[in-house]
Amino acid sequence: MSRVRIREAVPADVPALADVLYGAFGPGVMNQLMHPGGVTDDAKAKFGATLFPAPGDDSKLGVEVKIWAAELRPEPGQVGDAKIVAFAKWVIYHTERSEEQWNVEVKAMTTEMLGDGSSAEAFNWFIGGLHKKAKPLIRGEANAYLSILACLPEFQGLGAGSALLRQGCELADSLGLPSWLAASPEGYPVYRKFGYQNVAVMDFDVTGTWGITKTEAWNWGATNALDIAGPLPEGFSRSVLMKRPAKPT
Ligand SMILES: CC(C)(COP(=O)(O)OP(=O)(O)OC[C@H]1O[C@@H](n2cnc3c(N)ncnc32)[C@H](O)[C@@H]1OP(=O)(O)O)[C@@H](O)C(=O)NCCC(=O)NCCS
Repeated sequence: MSRVRIREAVPADVPALADVLYGAFGPGVMNQLMHPGGVTDDAKAKFGATLFPAPGDDSKLGVEVKIWAAELRPEPGQVGDAKIVAFAKWVIYHTERSEEQWNVEVKAMTTEMLGDGSSAEAFNWFIGGLHKKAKPLIRGEANAYLSILACLPEFQGLGAGSALLRQGCELADSLGLPSWLAASPEGYPVYRKFGYQNVAVMDFDVTGTWGITKTEAWNWGATNALDIAGPLPEGFSRSVLMKRPAKPT
């Protein structure tokens, strides 16, 4: 029996979910640019404060946020609590949105909004860049958008990421919705296995913009989405906008 169990996350899980997020993305170049001195407690708190929709916020009618946590049970014969090792955040747009609703300016973030030690410049360049690329492609389509998928490095390869992805894809299928996401270099092969198709790439000039040179340890996505975008230029990191059609259930 798998030791991984998926359950719906609750606001009390937020500190554990923030630890998973920054543990998973921490070693990557983009996270290091966005948190140049390391991720501070303030940055974790600011992330946590926006993870769940604010109670009473009905400004996003027809939009549902689903956050699932993957818990790892202790080894057979061992005692102890289950530990959250991975989570996924999905945003379900149940209905089509009008151009007035979807074609809104991508909000520039400030360090105050992101938390002490964060680089708003790097955040707006990377996350803002992804949103700007995705917006005119997704438009107002009703869809299940995978906003976050993260697993702590020491628990990767145990099936938590796939179990979370399966949960979201099954929900999308049951609702008859396609699914969209922006794939990181590490996430890309997992998404391909679940039937996500390449739509567009966003090649970020990491070395040219920030003067950082790739090391062996960093995956910058050089082998991803070659069919639609060709080889990745030297010094760039590739994110891939992907779409999975709804499968009849
Ligand atoms: C992408 C990610 C969520 C996958 O989570 P996971 O719990 O390791 O996923 P799984 O255990 O289900 O493994 C999925 C596949 O990746 C492979 N894999 C996972 N971790 C691996 C590792 N460290 N080295 C090699 N392969 C690995 C698995 O073998 C599996 O392939 P298979 O289905 O052929 O067996 C995780 O690697 C991660 O958090 N990465 C950093 C953050 C990130 O980039 N998130 C995606 C954002 S779009």
